[in-house]
Parts: sequence; structure tokens; C-alpha cells
Amino acid sequence: VSEENQNVLSAYEWVTKLYHHLLRFTKDGKEGYQYFKDRGISDETIGAFQLGFAPNAKNFTSEFLEKKGFHQQVLVKSGLISLNQDNSVSDRFRGRVTIPIRNHLGKTVGFGARTITGQEPKYLNSSESELFQKGKLLYNFDLAKKHIRRQNEAVLFEGYMDVISAYQAGVKNAVATMGTSLTDFQAKLLRRYVDSVVLCYDADNAGTEATYKAALLLLRAGCIVKVANLRENTDPDSFIHEYGGEIFQEEVIRSSKTFMSFYMQYIKKDYNLRNEGDRIQYIEDVLKQLAMIDSSVEREYYMKELSNEYNISMDTLTEELNGHRRKSG
Ligand code: CTP
Ligand code: MN
Ligand code: MN
Ligand code: MN
Ligand code: MN
Repeated sequence: VSEENQNVLSAYEWVTKLYHHLLRFTKDGKEGYQYFKDRGISDETIGAFQLGFAPNAKNFTSEFLEKKGFHQQVLVKSGLISLNQDNSVSDRFRGRVTIPIRNHLGKTVGFGARTITGQEPKYLNSSESELFQKGKLLYNFDLAKKHIRRQNEAVLFEGYMDVISAYQAGVKNAVATMGTSLTDFQAKLLRRYVDSVVLCYDADNAGTEATYKAALLLLRAGCIVKVANLRENTDPDSFIHEYGGEIFQEEVIRSSKTFMSFYMQYIKKDYNLRNEGDRIQYIEDVLKQLAMIDSSVEREYYMKELSNEYNISMDTLTEELNGHRRKSG
């Protein structure tokens, strides 16, 4: 780490503590604290994730850091402070609750900051920098790592609030991307630690599309992929808020479906299954995907399902599937 980046890390460390202190113990941070309370986040969780509040003032953070001896260049490079056209500076995060984003070593390298008054954008992140590259980081990886290893499984969410809620609910092997789709880098990173990944994205259209894309990357990286069993139009955090952590663990995470089961449902949108030609295309499509599944038990399981549902003999399905397996080697 360069000396300048070392200073940026040090600035982030100060500001993480500052925002957390303000939220937890001062009048200025009260609305932020109340916001997390209303979302069911406990003091212990607030502490574990060092959640904070950035006051609604133009130069609160910059003045704090200047007093600590940080130079303007470092402040701007940190992404905490914005440089204005007239060369004056102003705080990037104002009047928002803050979520420190830590790297794999547990050092804050950026913030996610959520509005508590319905402003746009809902979330404001630190700008990308050498230290803060969203495509290379997984939120909470540092805390989750040992649980991920032990369970040989990671649960992947799309938002930090989902991770925080899940963690509080006892799902400690939880990580998230940060508003961007999963990258090949992140898929390979996960694969180094686990055999299996449970995708627990929002149960809306965007989340379902993202699930499909992430699943393909993870499969290509060699993971076993499962898809959490979330009810339609909820996200994990609101599910936990409504039904509690135990039901979340039992009915959503432990009841996750295989990727194939997700896939067979997911691609139905592309076909009109009342139409014979479409039905045949659909079966072909499923077989093509099934051919890429390593486990022969799993392959047979879904072939039987197809065989029963569409009244096609196992022999025919096997022949077709084997054709695809030879092609893909
Ligand atoms: N996100 C972002 N900018 C936005 C909206 C979302 O960067 N304007 C990112 C954030 O990292 C967020 C993730 O995308 O955590 C998922 O978005 P969304 O589902 O909207 O966020 P939630 O975590 O559900 O937000 P909340 O529950 O606080 O409303
Ligand atoms: Mn979403
Ligand atoms: Mn969401
Ligand atoms: Mn949410
Ligand atoms: Mn074919």
C-alpha cells in the first residue's frame, strides 16, 4: 500500500469511528440511530458493523480531518470529500446513515450512505478508487470468511442491509455485492473458499435476472449454486423484519432450490407451454442446461421430472441429453 493510500485508510478509520460515535451517542446522530432502530437493528449489530451517521453539514467531515492533519489531496482522494469548482471542499455524505464497507482485512475503504428522508439517490457510495473497487470487494467478507469456510457455503445478497439483517438473524456466512452485478473476479474469490453458494437476491424482476446472471458465473467458476426460496416481491431484509430470523433460516435459506429447479422455472417466461412446439423447445432448452450438471443423480432426478410432466420416455431424454454432453465435452 502506497503512503498516500495508507493515509486514505487512516482517514476512513477516523471517519468510521466519528460517524459511529455520532450515531450512537450524540444528539446530532439521533435521527440516524432512530432510523436503524425502526428497521429492527440492535445496538449490538450497529456496533458490529460500525453503522454511523454523517451530519447534515457542508464541512463537518473535512474540518474534522483537517484538524487531524490530513491534506486536502488525501481528503479528496478518499472520496469522503468532494472538490468544488472554486477549489473549496464539501462533505460527500450529508444527513445520511453510513455503512462502512470493509476490505478483506477489515479496513474501511468506502461508505454506503442511505438517505433517511427519501432523497435521491437512495444510496450514495464512495466513488471508485484504488482501494474501493466494487467489482473486487464483497461486503462483509472479512467477518463472514470463517463462517463461510466452516459451512463450506456462502449466502450472497444484493444489498448491505440484507447482509446486516441476515447476520443479526444468525446467518453469518452472508456477503453482498454493492449495487453492481457479480463479477467473474468475485465468483472466483468465493470459489476459493466454498463449494456452494446460495443466491438470495430480491424476489423482484431485477433480482431474478441478476440471480440468473450470477448463477452462470458461479457455475462457470465451479460452484454448486442454490437459489433461496424467497416469497415474491420481498427482499431478504423485509422478510426477516416481517417473519423473523428463524423462519428466514428455515424456509428461505435451508429450503433453497437447486439451480436446475430455478432454471426450469426461470426460462418458462420464454415459452408458451400450452403450445406444442414451444413445449418441445422448452424441454430441449432444459436438457441443454442439464447436460452441464456434473452430478448424474441430479441429472436423472430432473429427467424423471421432465419425463413425468411431459410424458416423454427416459430413453429419449437420455439420448438427447447424451448428445449435449458429448458436445460440451
Ligand atoms: N444501490 C445503490 N444505489 C441505489 C440503489 C441501490 O448503490 N440508488 C445498491 C446498494 O448497494 C443496495 C443494493 O444496490 O444495497 C440493492 O438495492 P435495493 O434492493 O434497492 O436496496 P435495499 O438494500 O433493499 O435498500 P433498503 O432496504 O434500504 O431500501
Ligand atoms: Mn433490489
Ligand atoms: Mn432490496
Ligand atoms: Mn430492502
Ligand atoms: Mn438438442
